[in-house]
Amino acid sequence: MKKILKIRSFNTVIFGGDGDLAFRKIYPALFHRYVDNQINCDFNIYAITRSKKTHLNFYSNLRLSIQNSIDYDLDNKKIVDFLEKIKLINIPKHTKTDYLVLKSELNKTTSFQNIFYFSTPADAFGEISETLQKCQLINSRSKVVLEKPLGFSLASSKEINLKISKCFSENQIFRIDHYLGKETVQNLMVLRFANHLFEHSWSSEDIDSVQITVAETIGIKNRGNYYEQSGALLDMVQNHLLQLLCLIAMEPPAKLDANSVRNEKLKVLKSLRFFNEESVLKETVKGQYVGGNISDDYKPEIQVSSYLEDINKFESETETFVAIKSFIDNWRWKNTPFYLRTGKRMKKRYSEIIINFKSVRHNLFLSQGEISGNALIIRLQPEEGIELVQMTKLPGPGGYRYKPISLKLDYLDSFQERLPEAYERLIIDVLRGEQTLFMRQDELEAAWVWIESIKNSWEKTKLKNILYEAGSWGPGNDILDKKHAWTKL
Ligand code: BG6
Repeated sequence: MKKILKIRSFNTVIFGGDGDLAFRKIYPALFHRYVDNQINCDFNIYAITRSKKTHLNFYSNLRLSIQNSIDYDLDNKKIVDFLEKIKLINIPKHTKTDYLVLKSELNKTTSFQNIFYFSTPADAFGEISETLQKCQLINSRSKVVLEKPLGFSLASSKEINLKISKCFSENQIFRIDHYLGKETVQNLMVLRFANHLFEHSWSSEDIDSVQITVAETIGIKNRGNYYEQSGALLDMVQNHLLQLLCLIAMEPPAKLDANSVRNEKLKVLKSLRFFNEESVLKETVKGQYVGGNISDDYKPEIQVSSYLEDINKFESETETFVAIKSFIDNWRWKNTPFYLRTGKRMKKRYSEIIINFKSVRHNLFLSQGEISGNALIIRLQPEEGIELVQMTKLPGPGGYRYKPISLKLDYLDSFQERLPEAYERLIIDVLRGEQTLFMRQDELEAAWVWIESIKNSWEKTKLKNILYEAGSWGPGNDILDKKHAWTKL
């Protein structure tokens, strides 16, 4: 069995420590691991902010964000104790002088490992790394965690990585894709490699198509500037959807260590069929939402504005929806379409992977109509679970009438315990130095190369967005083969 490494005393230095991500995800994740006693060593958290914050304001927001993440009874003292571990430091510029306070703090605990968490725009990553190095705050035990987006093109991503790699070596760099920390995503490995039934039929011999959908009801919130540069393709496909595709399509790794797993994912990324001006028109669809009504999670219906209104502009070609029919040109997946679909302001918030198996070779029950193939549905959110859809005879006399029925596994019902948030697992992995669930530089570059084949072909063909109403399923039908249908449509 794999040895679980003990967590050693640490300092976490969060650049962008007053940012939305830090409040919503990073502090709550550390807090829950602390409450669960998984972090049971000495530790300090330094929240680095660029603009000056009053203590009162910062700590009351922090307390609120932690309280909002708790959905069970908890002694208030735990929150108070945790808040005491967090120190606020203002660093307006990345200069040795501005880093003096941080330096003197970290020098109080030289035996601790230092985790530098970069939760700022990526163009600051290089400068932060350089200044940390000049201040002699990086040693062989240090680690750096990088939030996405790591650039907006292959070239800018390479440039950012080059600057960081002058200060940290690859085994110290943790590029986060929070989808890899989701329980059901990790379960993909177990499902595939610990169940003979599935692994046996896991190829184009038996699988007809794969659909990966990440549908969101939220719009772009206050991230207009960022989103205008990224769009759905870079915001979601380049990272989250491609990572899911890799886990479904990769060959069994020789071992479970980081490099074996990442080597297999890299092979998938390198086998993705590139797009050109012809295929991009036939096999991709981009869309943008206009105003409409959204009602999700049983909340009352609300009217929402269009993307253009959300970004306060009259025109924009940024896509808020994308659907792609992709192919992996290797032995295992020859001619099996992998449909990828993601969008903002869609009808329901749900993320699902559907493996559609081929139908039986010969239909014995022809008079009763067509037999659809089995489907394995892996639901990532909102209710995590797995379903196996199979043809089942309807009870009663009168011949063989049948319909597809699901065998269901609901995570919450089956395990009856709180599922940790993705960030909780990932942060613990950083503390342990476990890199399997983080992207390696070459993986990231291979993903960029493929994404750029789409982006460049879109630019050359001037492919227009199809407008879709907020609260609908978007326009993805155009890329489907006749025999396929998006599930949930
Ligand atoms: C982020 C994207 O990486 O993932 C957001 O930048 C998106 O636009 C989010 O909303 C989705 O994450 P989750 O975990 O809510 O599916």
